[in-house]
Amino acid sequence: MSEVFVLNGPNLGRLGSREPDVYGAADFDDLTALCRDTARALGLHAEVRQTDDEAELVSWLHEAADGRIPVVLNPAAFTHYSYALRDAIAQRTAPLIEVHISNPAAREEFRHTSVVAAVATGTIAGFGLLSYVLALQAIAELLAESAD
Ligand code: DQA
Repeated sequence: MSEVFVLNGPNLGRLGSREPDVYGAADFDDLTALCRDTARALGLHAEVRQTDDEAELVSWLHEAADGRIPVVLNPAAFTHYSYALRDAIAQRTAPLIEVHISNPAAREEFRHTSVVAAVATGTIAGFGLLSYVLALQAIAELLAESAD
């Protein structure tokens, strides 16, 4: 079964209690279960992780690059300023989909910039936790296409 990493940046471990009007009522365990179940139905195994630490997230992206492992990434606030994350993503050879629960383009000005979007395969934002489901579906399609 092909592995996919679902990597989450700072404050996403606080889903459920964090600004529920923006991010919804589901908590991180719910997100983990959703990603695992979705991946399994697509014939994938999802390894779901969250960290508040930029260095740890960079090291997971190195691990994905070295293993040619596809990634669904919610970089959270790092989206908007982390060149270290951007440079780590640029090393990938497998697909990487940037996801957001909210729609950053419809929020504060500082969220309108993504320094990682240009090195991602694509971006899915604004669909709540469905953003992750759509991203996993995209990964499955891309893997099937590359196997043809
Ligand atoms: C987020 C959007 C970011 O702007 C924010 O910093 C987050 C979550 C989202 O999933 O909507 O932490 O990435």
